[in-house]
Amino acid sequence: MSYAQPQGDGGETHQTANDEVETLTTQQGIPVSDDQNTLRIGARGPSLIEDFHFREKIFHFDHERIPERVVHARGFGVHGYFELTKSLADVTRADLFQRVGDQTPVFVRFSTVAGSKGSADLARDVRGFAVKFYTQEGNWDLVGNNIPVFFIQDAIKFPDLIHAAKPEPDRGFPQAQTAHDNFWDFVSLSPESFHMIMWIMSDRAIPRSFRFMEGFGVHSFRFVNAEGKSTFVKFHWKPKLGLQSVLWNEAVKINGADPDFHRRDLWDAIKGGDFPEWELGLQLFDEEFADTFEFDILDSTKIIPEEQIPVQIVGRLVLDRTVDNFFAETEQVAFCTQNIVPGIDFSDDPLLQGRNFSYLDTQLKRLGSPNFTHIPVNAPRCPMAHFQQDGHMAMKNPKGRVNYEPNSWGSLGGPRENPERGFTSFPEEVAGPKTRLRSESFADHYSQARQFLISQTPIERKHIGDALVFELSKCERPDVRSRVVSHLLNIDVALATRVADGLRLEMPDPAKAARPTRQELPPS
Ligand code: HEM
Repeated sequence: MSYAQPQGDGGETHQTANDEVETLTTQQGIPVSDDQNTLRIGARGPSLIEDFHFREKIFHFDHERIPERVVHARGFGVHGYFELTKSLADVTRADLFQRVGDQTPVFVRFSTVAGSKGSADLARDVRGFAVKFYTQEGNWDLVGNNIPVFFIQDAIKFPDLIHAAKPEPDRGFPQAQTAHDNFWDFVSLSPESFHMIMWIMSDRAIPRSFRFMEGFGVHSFRFVNAEGKSTFVKFHWKPKLGLQSVLWNEAVKINGADPDFHRRDLWDAIKGGDFPEWELGLQLFDEEFADTFEFDILDSTKIIPEEQIPVQIVGRLVLDRTVDNFFAETEQVAFCTQNIVPGIDFSDDPLLQGRNFSYLDTQLKRLGSPNFTHIPVNAPRCPMAHFQQDGHMAMKNPKGRVNYEPNSWGSLGGPRENPERGFTSFPEEVAGPKTRLRSESFADHYSQARQFLISQTPIERKHIGDALVFELSKCERPDVRSRVVSHLLNIDVALATRVADGLRLEMPDPAKAARPTRQELPPS
């Protein structure tokens, strides 16, 4: 009996090609006769370097890994479609928002932020909710989260936030976002993060599954209509199944029993024909509202309350197809806030402006070539014509002789710009001195944190208090714990007291609570 040739009945254990089973080949297409043994001199002798099949196979395997995403490394992507249920032709010229009933194919990737690619699904963390719309006028990426606000106001702080949230550099642990000194040290010195801290300590941060969570574009964006009129817009995804979370106690058990719980849930639902669905909701408002709103619409640490600007439902998102290949699609998909289509535009939110730089930059490194738009999951599904060429892995170079413009080759001269159909930036008037000064309108860090807390039911509030005590109990530095409590004092005295008691901390003097400008002490 030979170890190399498993014995069998010739049925399911049959290991060689036949009329129904295709022939194994090398990447060069050369048929392979033996995939079990390397070529060597004598049955027990050294292997030969001329064994091109072995060398190609090992070479390719050695290079299978690419860098994981610097954030949102762990994710799960699926296909689906967006269907418009209300025309938005009056506020935007974006093609996907014109005709009721039109369907636009989408690819959606859900993710956690802080953990590595191999971390567990039920971490207390923000969830990414990134949607790529393959529209008839190019790809539009709405790269959002399941929480409507963010930790920081300015993108220049993003590397610090993520360094503080990821494992500490000397020891390489823990994975959990919220349970260590560096994270709490950073946020306790960044009062702008306290609204987000309330959300991240709430039940929202441990969703029961991706199917039971909301999504938010976070920033204010612009819609621009055919007449060039601009309307500000905030994007919301509302799950048809409603919101559900698990308790920390349950999350710990689920993570232990099945760290892939969220991805398995989505896979099983779609495979079983139980397609998850979300409604697309919009908050639309004009410059006049923006000027009178008590917070700054460019500040991503703030929401616009739905009581002030109601959310209108304009479409639905249905996820109905799993990927054919996880790496090709979920790993290689490249979302970018800068992927925007005519009729949609950016606002001057300093977090959004920084994101617009960051995504393309990191993806060049992660995917290794400026041609990553040639990968099918990233390629537009509308006509595409340009003169960009060459680079690693170029697969769609321009055809013919002309690769520049202007040119005088007439109809042979390739694509030309189109002033009517092409993307134009909204001609916002901007003037002012160059400065790093942050606007005073970004200064109130506690009022909305308090409003969020008040909006919670008593049991949800209790969970926030419990989570703060639990997470801060992992923070070893008493000065950091005290600093956090002194911020909580500015949000809610009862919450601060509960956390101080839970941590056996002396209550900081309210008069000395961290107190930025435009802030009054809340009633106890
Ligand atoms: C990845 C959302 C802020 C840089 C992601 C992903 C999401 C996301 C959903 C995962 C995309 C995927 O599934 O492939 C957000 C939201 C933010 C935010 C909602 C704030 C409102 C920022 C900021 C920066 C940044 C301020 C940098 C200045 C990145 C980078 C990646 C990423 C580098 C990895 C992209 C890749 O490798 O493909 N973000 N992010 N993000 N984000 Fe953000």
